[in-house]
Amino acid sequence: MAKDTLTITDNRTGKQYEIPIEHGAIRAMDLRQIQVAAADFGLMTYDPAFTNTASCKSRITYIDGDNGILRYRGYPIEELAEKSDYLETAYLIVKGELPNRQHFDMWKRNITLHTMVHENVKKFMDGFRYDAHPMGMLVGTIGALSTFYPDAKNIFDLESRRVQTRRLIGKMPTIAAFAYRHSRGLPYVYPDNDLSYTGNFLSMLFKMTELVYKPNPVLERALDVLFVLHADHEQNCSTNAVRSVGSSQVDPYSAVAAAAAALYGPLHGGANEAVIHMLMEIGSIDNVPAAVKKFKAGEGRLMGFGHRVYKNYDPRAKIIKRIAEEVFEVTGKNPLIDIAVELERIALQDDYFVKRKLYPNVDFYSGIIYQAMGFPMTMFPVLFAIPRTSGWLAQWAEMVRDSEQKIARPRQLYVGEEIRHWAPVAQRPEPASREDAVTEQI
Ligand code: ACO
Repeated sequence: MAKDTLTITDNRTGKQYEIPIEHGAIRAMDLRQIQVAAADFGLMTYDPAFTNTASCKSRITYIDGDNGILRYRGYPIEELAEKSDYLETAYLIVKGELPNRQHFDMWKRNITLHTMVHENVKKFMDGFRYDAHPMGMLVGTIGALSTFYPDAKNIFDLESRRVQTRRLIGKMPTIAAFAYRHSRGLPYVYPDNDLSYTGNFLSMLFKMTELVYKPNPVLERALDVLFVLHADHEQNCSTNAVRSVGSSQVDPYSAVAAAAAALYGPLHGGANEAVIHMLMEIGSIDNVPAAVKKFKAGEGRLMGFGHRVYKNYDPRAKIIKRIAEEVFEVTGKNPLIDIAVELERIALQDDYFVKRKLYPNVDFYSGIIYQAMGFPMTMFPVLFAIPRTSGWLAQWAEMVRDSEQKIARPRQLYVGEEIRHWAPVAQRPEPASREDAVTEQI
């Protein structure tokens, strides 16, 4: 019978080792016994950017990239997008099961109770420059929350973890909306707890002089579905950040601020903005074939296409494309959609994209919707961070409870100088390449 083990022969010594395989993986620490001599450190793996390394066992999100499958706690994303809403999905992600009626009502009440922020948070946000990027404000303010809730440092206390989770999910839309209002020079709008999670967010963003803001139900639902789609995506860059920073046992506000900082980067939360720039540059449907030709020649990339994990249509992109039509019924059509649809049509018929399994990803259509809803591009990563907070917190709590986890601390392969000794400045040798070597460093 086939055994779930791997036999390795070390050609340096001729020795053989049998290593167990579990969940399709070997433990990197099992390689340490492979030594040339007793004093040898033992064999390591080298995996920059973790392209083939599992850093944890997780029960939260399942992705099968070859078949375009995404599930939260076993539930297909398509079902959740159609039948659930963001707060129910956040409960599912954080707690592992869908809530019963009573628990759902309690959860919604508990999140709603935490939508207000301390007045000093408002003042803190006032201190940012008039033109501050809302994502920079969000990152800074989430970090600042740790100073308002020193109890958050009790990360091994279940009740403390629960309270911080409700606070963060409750306050993210408020902080995000304040950041937007600040950048527009508009007064902050306080939460309206009679509205839904996304209805209240729209109110805090767009309320002007009316006494009560009535969100458009189509836009409220569209935003809610977008939040469901962005709630978690297993071990991506920002999730790795929340786990890695959280592994030092810092409070969850500091860990989530680190995750939001990771999301700020153009390769992660900024791709939908790049899609809008690309579509604006293409300018019209007639220019699409020439643009595709350029991408194929390696002059730039077709933004919003391709994914490290999905080698099939990103299931979220399909849902987002449908939402776009519903949103445009209300807002009027964003003219960029026609260019996007034509780009997709041509690219999916083209051998270059077919061979490389490049399909639209979540970002291909999301920016077009956000733009039609009136969001400036600087708000796009903020709109990603709000729903991803439930995913970050679920992943953080899973890490805190996991007895196998320790402070995250990768190894390195040192390839620098051997030992050298300090000499006074006048006696230092001047290698020809010294200037280059020094200026290369940073
Ligand atoms: N346009 C044109 N060619 C592409 C594209 C693209 N968007 N994406 C990949 N390719 C090509 C590469 O040139 C490469 O071709 P080659 O084998 O001839 O050299 C091949 O496809 C494989 O590409 P990699 O860069 O190795 O794939 P990787 O998995 O590392 O990258 C990534 C994935 C970064 C998403 C890439 O597809 C990309 O840059 N896409 C555009 C940016 C984007 O949309 N990012 C959002 C991702 S979703 C998210 O973060 C929420």
